[in-house]
Amino acid sequence: MGLKWVSADFVYLLVGLILIAVEICNGGITSSFVRNDDLSLDMPVDSDVFRVPPGYNAPQQVHITQGAYEGNGVIVSWITPDEPGSNTVLYWAEDSELKNSADGIVVTYKYFNYTSGYIHHSSIKNLEFDTKYYYEVGIGNTTRQFWFITPPKAGPDVPYTFGLIGDLGQTFDSNGTLTHYELNPAKGQTLLFVGDLSYADDYPFHDNNRWDTWGRFIERNAAYQPWIWTAGNHEIDFDPEIGESEPFKPYTHRFFVPYRESESTSPLWYSIKRASAYIIVMSSYSAYGKYTPQYKWFIKELPKVNRTETPWLVVLMHSPLYNSYVHHYMEGETMRVMYEPWFVEYKVDIIFAGHVHAYERSERVSNVAYNVVNGLCTPIRDHSAPVYITIGDGGNLEGLATEMTEPQPSYSAYREASFGHGIFDIKNKDACLFQLASQSRWICCRS
Ligand SMILES: [Fe+2]
Repeated sequence: MGLKWVSADFVYLLVGLILIAVEICNGGITSSFVRNDDLSLDMPVDSDVFRVPPGYNAPQQVHITQGAYEGNGVIVSWITPDEPGSNTVLYWAEDSELKNSADGIVVTYKYFNYTSGYIHHSSIKNLEFDTKYYYEVGIGNTTRQFWFITPPKAGPDVPYTFGLIGDLGQTFDSNGTLTHYELNPAKGQTLLFVGDLSYADDYPFHDNNRWDTWGRFIERNAAYQPWIWTAGNHEIDFDPEIGESEPFKPYTHRFFVPYRESESTSPLWYSIKRASAYIIVMSSYSAYGKYTPQYKWFIKELPKVNRTETPWLVVLMHSPLYNSYVHHYMEGETMRVMYEPWFVEYKVDIIFAGHVHAYERSERVSNVAYNVVNGLCTPIRDHSAPVYITIGDGGNLEGLATEMTEPQPSYSAYREASFGHGIFDIKNKDACLFQLASQSRWICCRS
């Protein structure tokens, strides 16, 4: 089930040859293209993109995520600033007059001197597959209406297009990344977000108002297509010096995921099926050693995956396991040691990560032979191994990771200190295309 290089998709290849650098050969390319590495500033709080919707207690920061393991559910989340209001979502299929409703819950939290608004989460279940629905939140004169499209029922040859963004933040460059994603003719249908969301923790006392601005910033996309969440280090918000010792507090109050449906005990790791993909989300910043809750869940998860139903097995995590940039070098090493044998045994197709503010694609390699005494500690080509893709620069205020280890290691196929977003375009059970916003393309298929 491994992937291999092919030149089968002539349309993309032709476009690529004319317009862009195309990644069709094996290995060792360091792109000379480096995006402007000046630090980008966060957009001012009174920016248009952070505008509070008009009306008393109007729902804001509306976003959706997959709400059911099988793909036929949606979790709708939003915040009302002044009073709790209603937890109910009204929803109806595009071709139906019948309005249904789903109730939810409301939560709040305090963080140092900040008190959140009323954070609502409503889970809509048993939707039809491949159907456009409208939905409405809020009450009285301040209702707001949005829509989403459910995925096709899971199946081996169901084409589907995922977007990828990591480490987004809320700078002018972040806005550029989101705009480019929205304008990309490849039209991502669901966004896989590989961690590090708002960067609010870069502000004094982790100013959680910057979580609110971020929520309003992404609404223009996240209210209309599911964003599949992965937690990064900027979600930990652990700061006992100011009395905040509950890790992931803002993140877990603001972003609900359907973790119980995959028998997970934590929203920080879970899995979903969507079209022809089985997506496993892992937490780089939760205990993952042997016997831990994440480990015990994970080792039961891989045997569950039915590759005849969902041939594409994808893992999301924040910290990359293979990274040849200087920044964050080897931070994923302990997780690699722990989980790489599983990824190889179960032939995971692709592992997407963020964290390093740049792009890198690995060869299909593994490094699992080492047993302390045999000295076999070099990555080798392995058709059962995943391809590792780091896509960690959405444009946040910390800037690009431009410094690379030299020479480029043989496991590193392509690296570039620039991108924005990626498109993971599944054509059928045998072929996919990964496209970088800088227009480098990787064409792959199954054997
Ligand atoms: Fe990070």
